[in-house]
Amino acid sequence: MLTERLEGKWIDAFVHAFALCKIGRGTTVAILSETLSRLVNVELAEIALQRLDARPFHVRLPTPAQEAPVAVRSTGSSFAVQALEPAVRALESAEVVIDCTVEGMLHAKELPRILKGGTRLYMISNEHPEVLERLLPDAAIQPRIELAKQWLGAAREMRVTSAAGTDLTIKVAGAPVRGAPGFVDEPGKLGYWPGGLVLCFPKANTVNGTLVLDVGDVNLTFKRYLEAPIHLTIENDYVTRIDGTSLDARLMRSYFEAWQERDAYGVSHVGWGMNARARWDALQMYDKHDINGTELRAFAGNFLYSTGANEHAGRFTRGHFDLPVCNCTVALDGKVVVSEGRLCAALA
Ligand SMILES: [Fe+2]
Repeated sequence: MLTERLEGKWIDAFVHAFALCKIGRGTTVAILSETLSRLVNVELAEIALQRLDARPFHVRLPTPAQEAPVAVRSTGSSFAVQALEPAVRALESAEVVIDCTVEGMLHAKELPRILKGGTRLYMISNEHPEVLERLLPDAAIQPRIELAKQWLGAAREMRVTSAAGTDLTIKVAGAPVRGAPGFVDEPGKLGYWPGGLVLCFPKANTVNGTLVLDVGDVNLTFKRYLEAPIHLTIENDYVTRIDGTSLDARLMRSYFEAWQERDAYGVSHVGWGMNARARWDALQMYDKHDINGTELRAFAGNFLYSTGANEHAGRFTRGHFDLPVCNCTVALDGKVVVSEGRLCAALA
């Protein structure tokens, strides 16, 4: 485990990120955390906000009891706030919320209410500060993220293929599109650090085909590189077959089954990574405690397939797999945006 302390360089990193979020003198900022938050990031946030002459205050809640049948990791849906009205009111009254909850407020049920009045929320992924330092947000990525969002938003069909055997067709027309440049500078919006990916939430009955997870692809719920291929059959959004006898396949089957919910097998989101600084091999460098794996979701050219909750298709579950897949070709209505794991020139 890497040591966690208040390094000057990490205070500088947080100042840089917050300045990109247009936090400055007098900005009112709620630092949202829970008792099991990574304390060093909470403290770095507080000190960096003071450096910027902002007006920070803390909203800190006890981490709620476990209710799921298995351990839950990196879903982006924090249950920390528990719809506690005074806490929600405090959060929505700030200009900015810095989100240091363990899971993050990305899909939390209180999020729409917090954003509604113009508060912006910046989620700091539960990573060791060294990861955040390496993946400092950079405004230069924003035009490319916007272009990717435009293309995905205008597309009718996403086709994903690979030499390993993936052949997926996703009808993306009308699917809500999200892009993450790694910071947030507009009222009522959400951003997260590290960022650099584009995705959409497919509507119901739009995803069919085969997804082959090959050696070196990643299961981020387990924070583990696959060492043997897994063949997933996907019919009308749901994983209906998991073929493979390896440990990777058995672990995946076991975690899916633990939920005893059909929705856990449904598609959550699909997209691709665009962060040139994020690295595929980063997982190898850290203990599991040190990271939340957002870097692996964002590395340039990965195809990100995720199972679990998708409110836009009417599916609700806490079972969630984020599966960055390497070496795929992603085409939107025939236009290749990722070719064998490499971003096309306009997005790179
Ligand atoms: Fe996800």
